[in-house]
Amino acid sequence: MRIGIVGAGNVGRLYGEEWVKRGHEVAFSYVRDVGRLESFVGLLGARAYVLEVEDVAAFSDVVIFAPPFEQIEHAAALLGPVSGKVVVDTTNPFNPERTGLVDLGTSTASEKVAELFRDALVVKALHNVSVEQAASAMRETPVVVFIAGDDNRAKDTVAGLIADAGLVPFDTGDLSTAVLSEAPGPLFMNEYNESAVAAAVATARG
Ligand SMILES: NC(=O)c1ccc[n+]([C@@H]2O[C@H](COP(=O)([O-])OP(=O)(O)OC[C@H]3O[C@@H](n4cnc5c(N)ncnc54)[C@H](OP(=O)(O)O)[C@@H]3O)[C@@H](O)[C@H]2O)c1
Repeated sequence: MRIGIVGAGNVGRLYGEEWVKRGHEVAFSYVRDVGRLESFVGLLGARAYVLEVEDVAAFSDVVIFAPPFEQIEHAAALLGPVSGKVVVDTTNPFNPERTGLVDLGTSTASEKVAELFRDALVVKALHNVSVEQAASAMRETPVVVFIAGDDNRAKDTVAGLIADAGLVPFDTGDLSTAVLSEAPGPLFMNEYNESAVAAAVATARG
């Protein structure tokens, strides 16, 4: 599969590297420092590429959307049209200082991102565990990565990518259920294994 990463920071690099190892072709896109990104990508071999954000959509079967929350509008504008493509929203609504969450009122990060990609197949994923948790879970005991979205085939694709990264996908339902697992939801940053997750989700649903 061809995976394009918008926001090749902690999240994009961690998962992108795993997917390259599993045989996927992965394009990492840059905003400020192409030199640093080229050094990283150069170590990953022939299936990894550096692209400008503007070129990611044309390359990708799946776009991983992983910019800082305050950059979602700008990043979406750079990315351009993604009609019919799977877009994985990894964001949590932290403020630019990373000292707390922005006040979205009754809205959520997933709703804000979905508004930017109305004709794409948006799946929330890769957001509920930190990169430190995910990295150690990839090497040791796999943990659950929640997915939420309105298109089942898109969710199957993303679930496969999560499994390829050595983690355990768990589908909470349509995109509105992302409220359970993105910050500040009750499932956010808690680590669940396969046997405990269903009970935790049931409790979170209340
Ligand atoms: N860190 C975690 O443990 C974690 C876990 C789960 C989810 N998340 C969420 O996932 C997202 C990414 O987190 P992160 O820790 O990977 O952040 P990060 O390390 O700061 O990386 C963000 C990346 O986005 C790029 N970027 C900035 N502005 C952009 C724009 N306008 N267009 C395109 N790309 C842009 C940055 O490029 P430059 O460096 O050139 O600015 C950087 O490569 C955040 O929304 C975060 O809340 C984070």
